[in-house]
Amino acid sequence: MDVFEKVQKLIDHIVATEIADMESLEKFRIEYLGSKNSIKPLFAEIKNVDNSRKKEFGQTMNTLKQTAQDKYDSSKLDLAKVAQSDEAASLDLSLPTPISGIGSRHPISMVMNRLIKIFERIGFAVAEEREIEDDWHNFTAMNTPDDHPARDMQDTFYLLNSTEHLLRTHTSSVQSRVMTTTEPPIRIIAPGRVYRNETISARSHCQFHQVEGLYIDENVSFADMKQTLMYFAKEMYGPETKIRLRPSYFPFTEPSAEMDVWMGTDNDTAKRLTKGTGWLEVLGCGMVDPNVLKNCNIDPEKYTGFAFGIGIERSAMQMYDISDIRMFFENDVRFLSQFNSVI
Ligand code: PHE
Repeated sequence: MDVFEKVQKLIDHIVATEIADMESLEKFRIEYLGSKNSIKPLFAEIKNVDNSRKKEFGQTMNTLKQTAQDKYDSSKLDLAKVAQSDEAASLDLSLPTPISGIGSRHPISMVMNRLIKIFERIGFAVAEEREIEDDWHNFTAMNTPDDHPARDMQDTFYLLNSTEHLLRTHTSSVQSRVMTTTEPPIRIIAPGRVYRNETISARSHCQFHQVEGLYIDENVSFADMKQTLMYFAKEMYGPETKIRLRPSYFPFTEPSAEMDVWMGTDNDTAKRLTKGTGWLEVLGCGMVDPNVLKNCNIDPEKYTGFAFGIGIERSAMQMYDISDIRMFFENDVRFLSQFNSVI
């Protein structure tokens, strides 16, 4: 048998080979396509081929190689199709579908929603505003002009190449937005995210959330504010809750105060949260500074008001015993799925 016949026979054999399963496919691959395949040695036969037919021999050998490759590829495809239809046949469509998680509210949203509900019950309406603010609404209107030292209290992220636009440093910017567009009486609650250029640690972050409250009408007094905050504290922390107001400073309120809630010193958590004092700092508040009203075209002779700002992260950390603020922003499902509330 000459070498041409030998190669042709092998081609015929390959074409006729039955490949019925993955095992024979692998065998075939090793035999004809593997590194020690049985086609390779045939190339050496070229030395026995007459010079005039050497080219023809080369072409025949290529056909042989290609035939083996084609056979392998098409068999592999066929087997995959069979496997797929086997799987389809074994699919029981009458079985109930596996239950997929419905997700859960983020703890920050849960606390915000709870606060919103508490204030909605006494007539506050939700106001939402932009997170990218201009300097005027965030600072100037809020009685914090350019050279005011209180600007240092809130390290600000300005937009690139801008001295005009910034990420709001507090939800108090919603106050100026609403006051410049709404006639009193105004009674709003503004939940939202704020940003400050602070070093990230377990206790502080460069982004966090606040809920702002603003009430402006004729004859609104400090006593009204205290009563409102007392109501809030009792709803939030229980009917026996005690509060205290400490004098404080904010450029946009006068007088200003900080409100603490009595946690006690009976248990370790309360001691840790209150640094041993028993009092937990909950919010900043005060009577809206007449300058702020003026800046927003509201007559300070006719109207007075109060405002307050509550930090959400701190409340949430305390409520759910979370020790690291960074967890709120890491989107770790193991953390988030523990809050399976739908509030
Ligand atoms: N904007 C203040 C802050 O971010 C909080 C505050 C709001 C204080 C309203 C008084 C009145 O610290």
